[in-house]
Amino acid sequence: MNEHEAMGRALELAWRGWGRVAPNPLVGAVLLAADSLVAEGWHAGFGAPHAEAMALRAAGSRAHGATLCVTLEPCTHAGKQPACTAALRAAGVSRVVAATRDPNPEAAGGVAELRDAGIAVEVGLRGSEAESQNAMFLHRWRETGRPFVALKLATSLDGRIADSLGHSRWLAGEVAREYVHWLRAGYDAIGLGGRSARVDDAALTVRGSLTPRRPPTRVIFDRRGDLPASLRLVRTAAEIPTMLVTEARLPVERAELLEQAGIRVVRALSLAAGLRALAQEGVSSLLIEGGGRLAGALLAAGLVDRYYWIQAPLWLGTEGTPALAALPGSPLDDAARWRAVERRTLGSDTLLVLDR
Ligand SMILES: NC(=O)c1ccc[n+]([C@@H]2O[C@H](COP(=O)([O-])OP(=O)(O)OC[C@H]3O[C@@H](n4cnc5c(N)ncnc54)[C@H](OP(=O)(O)O)[C@@H]3O)[C@@H](O)[C@H]2O)c1
Repeated sequence: MNEHEAMGRALELAWRGWGRVAPNPLVGAVLLAADSLVAEGWHAGFGAPHAEAMALRAAGSRAHGATLCVTLEPCTHAGKQPACTAALRAAGVSRVVAATRDPNPEAAGGVAELRDAGIAVEVGLRGSEAESQNAMFLHRWRETGRPFVALKLATSLDGRIADSLGHSRWLAGEVAREYVHWLRAGYDAIGLGGRSARVDDAALTVRGSLTPRRPPTRVIFDRRGDLPASLRLVRTAAEIPTMLVTEARLPVERAELLEQAGIRVVRALSLAAGLRALAQEGVSSLLIEGGGRLAGALLAAGLVDRYYWIQAPLWLGTEGTPALAALPGSPLDDAARWRAVERRTLGSDTLLVLDR
């Protein structure tokens, strides 16, 4: 196994922390000696041992003289766990290859400290893959004042999210639906447009094989605050954290009724202001699941960081609901090209993940 392959394995291992580590980063680590895998580790949960510590423990004395391939710069900070740099020095690791730097000022500085201790350090191997994997964590240090916003839509081949009657269940197949439950588990909050909330009466909960450390908060965006008490989201708001992002004009009596049902009502004059308000409520990552008008408005406002596009192999025709309503046009020469970070099949559907 060469270092490139070892980093690939470390990236794979890091995914095991999805839904369990936030607000910490996803991290995977592999120890190599003479081109052979010695031990592996990953950060499995918030407060749990770091990936490096897990790999060092598994390696024991075989860590001496080995190379560590790790997806994030080893930390210098003793918090819930001891500092990784100290553990690496004590174990006699001779070389460290880190895919990305740690932007957290409390934990950063690992590269310099290891180099000072005489350990050879290289940074950047498979860096863009590691950055994309930890996009939510890295976003927190960019000081945008809003959560990392991802949009997920399941569409037909002709870009429709529902048929002419508004039916979207089930556009994508079972494998794609299981993937969406896995995806939800890694986000602080799941967002939905009010119209979709009314039409679909979705539960917006995580019901897959991965149980998140904290169930995501459900966030409904509806300027008029029109959420009937019979909606599943309203009926279950006392048990599952639920918020409504709405405009200032929502009558006080209606807001009070929703609050009595357990919904936290956030008033904001725009989507950008709504997202800032969510950040202040502790939401650092938000997965928006439609519908088309909310999706178009967010994209038009430049508020989407990632797009998960699930394409189902069927046609719904021009009467169907467009995936992105009211998205202003752009001359071809000025159109921003997004970067594909993942492409794969989900049963008979196709997943494309793009970053802005
Ligand atoms: N295939 C999929 O992935 C998928 C996912 C979700 C939904 N769907 C389907 O999509 C359909 C609904 O989609 P839709 O496009 O008609 O509606 P939608 O996007 O669900 O509704 C737009 C909602 O966003 C609210 N909103 C808040 N701020 C906004 C802003 N600045 N600009 C625009 N809207 C804002 C609107 O509030 P106001 O009305 O008060 O303005 C409205 O409640 C349903 O048939 C559903 O089944 C499909």
